[in-house]
Parts: sequence; structure tokens; C-alpha cells
Amino acid sequence: MEKILAPSILAGNHANLKNALKIAETDQRKWIHLDIMDGHFVPNLSFGPQTVADLREGSELFFDVHLMLDNPHLYIDAFSKAGADLITIHIEPSYDHLEAINHIRSLDKKVGVAINPSTPVDDILNIINSVKLDLVLCMTVNPGFGGQSFIHDVLEKVEKLAAIRDEISNNYMIEVDGGVGPEHVQLCLDSGVDVFVAGTAYFKRSESERRAFAESVGENI
Ligand code: DX5
Ligand code: ZN
Repeated sequence: MEKILAPSILAGNHANLKNALKIAETDQRKWIHLDIMDGHFVPNLSFGPQTVADLREGSELFFDVHLMLDNPHLYIDAFSKAGADLITIHIEPSYDHLEAINHIRSLDKKVGVAINPSTPVDDILNIINSVKLDLVLCMTVNPGFGGQSFIHDVLEKVEKLAAIRDEISNNYMIEVDGGVGPEHVQLCLDSGVDVFVAGTAYFKRSESERRAFAESVGENI
């Protein structure tokens, strides 16, 4: 499966997020990761659909939109219209997950499901078995803030998800998000990771370090 390094603009300057986008574009990245926080599901706020729409203008990047919201189903239309290419929703809050997944799909967007570090793979098994997913996101920190430490134990869940997709015809990509840096790449690849989200470890590094990071992931430019 294709390997991707998705810079998270949460680590950019929020008074000038277009600049973070430009860095990713100049680096010839394919994806950009956009973290949406509601102050309820996670104890932080980030930005909303208008910001995503403004960033979308003139950008060819693949917009990987990660909704950290208690009621993600209420915002699917807004983020779809704003230009999301992939919309990922968390399994932990209670709403009709399958209906939300089908809604995203009906808008011709790719769809992902995210689980927090303490959420077992078992909690998404019925979804994996009943609907086609493009991506499963394993959070490698408790979501809400950039710059936290990578939780290694999560890789056991990645291995499990990689084994499951080999058995069934649900060929989702596996994404890790939170505390990911070049030092974790090999272990993640060995476990079955396809998409590496990196905020701090991307934007706080030099251009040559960013290039080396992407090469180690195996992203083809
Ligand atoms: C965490 C967010 C991440 C965050 C990653 O709540 O979902 O996408 O931006 O940032 P780093 O790479 O700094 O941990
Ligand atoms: Zn994220």
C-alpha cells in the first residue's frame, strides 16, 4: 500500500496557516492533516470549516480532515463543502456511526474511523465488517494537543488491524497520529502503518530533515 507523510498544520502558526500549507506544498507532500477540535470531545479548540475552505482555495493537497468532535455527524456537510477529501470521525462519542459513515460516502468523500489510545480494536470490529472504510486512525496520543509523547503500546492495535484487513476485503489504510517522529518510522512500518501524521516533528524541522523523514516513510514524490 502507498505510504504517506501527512503534516499536521496544528503545529503551524495559526495566524498564518496558509504558510504551513505552502511549506507542505513546496516540500511536495501529497496530504495535509487538519485537526478539528470542539472543546468537548477534546479539551482544546482549533478551527472550523471556514478556515478549511480558505485553505482549500488554490491548494491541490489531499485534505485529511480529522474531526475530534462529540457530534461529528452534524458537521459532515460543512467540512465536505469546505473541501475535505477524507473525513475521519471518532468511534468514542455516541451517535449513529454507520449512518455518519454512509453519509460521508454519499458525498463522494473518503471515510475514516479513529480510535483513542485506550479504545480497543474490538470496538470497531462490527464497523470494519459491515462497511467499507478508506482509513483507520489509531491515535498515538490522547487527542487535543500537539507535541505530546508517542504511546508505543498502540502499535499492537496497528498490528491487529493490519492482520484483520489481510483476512477480509476491507483494504483501509492505517494512520497513526500524535507524537510521531522519524525515530518511530521503522517500528510503525513493521507494524503496518501507511499514513504518518506529524505536526511538531515536521514543522519544527529543517527542509533537509523533512525530506529525510518523508523518504524514511517511503513516500514517493
Ligand atoms: C492531536 C492531533 C494531532 C497533532 C499531532 O490531538 O490529532 O494531529 O496535530 O501533533 P504532533 O505531531 O505534534 O503530536
Ligand atoms: Zn489529528
